[in-house]
Amino acid sequence: TNKQDWQGKRVLITAGGTREDLDPVRYLSNRSSGKMGYALARAARAHGAEVTLISANVTLPTPPGVQLVRVRTAQDLAAQLQTLFPQTDVLLMAAAVSDFRPAQVAPQKIKKAAEDAHLTLELEANPDLLKLVATQKKPGQLVVGFAAETQDLKQNAARKLVNKKADFIILNDVGNPQIGFNADDNQVTIIGANGFETQTPVESKAAIAERILAVLKKTFN
Ligand code: PMT
Repeated sequence: TNKQDWQGKRVLITAGGTREDLDPVRYLSNRSSGKMGYALARAARAHGAEVTLISANVTLPTPPGVQLVRVRTAQDLAAQLQTLFPQTDVLLMAAAVSDFRPAQVAPQKIKKAAEDAHLTLELEANPDLLKLVATQKKPGQLVVGFAAETQDLKQNAARKLVNKKADFIILNDVGNPQIGFNADDNQVTIIGANGFETQTPVESKAAIAERILAVLKKTFN
């Protein structure tokens, strides 16, 4: 196959996990390492695409030839998506975006009194960024979401495909530590709004990235 078969395609990838600050020293986040999103960025670049990688709190080396944009919070990520999505042909939303953030960010470190046995945090919802961009999609733009699930995998992924108006959902079973967050391997089910569905074997995230790109490539021939 032609190694440069994504030449001319502008690919925007999100990777890592957002951090939602509680106070100057604490945050809420998740276990995403960014490995899956970075593997996609490396693979898309190797296939000749013009790749921008929005990276949320990832410590991995930047893949060569990839434009890197660092973000911290879901709100930072939202702002970058609004700027970059209009110039994108294919969006791959591999980042684990916090669904909620603390309703207030305390300006000073939250103190514990000796008698305190509980602390209640009030959270408010972050917007659904994938849904927001998918709603702004123009003809020719492809929007690919990911789903990190621990139960009722297929049903939950199918619901996200519809609710978030994505063209594809890449379903990840994050209940299995061999293939989920921070693992070097993965196994995904690629589900298309067009009825396409395929499950990959367990392979390196680099190999999974190649499979995802091969499926997507077929939609724009
Ligand atoms: O980074 P690794 O350690 O390699 O792990 C890879 C991974 C498991 C993080 C990745 O493959 C994965 O599954 N990413 C999606 C994580 C996630 O947030 O899934 P979700 O099911 O909560 O969200 C569904 C989709 O909506 C995702 O594309 C997410 O980016 C997006 N979303 C979610 C919430 C929100 N407020 N806005 C969003 O856009």
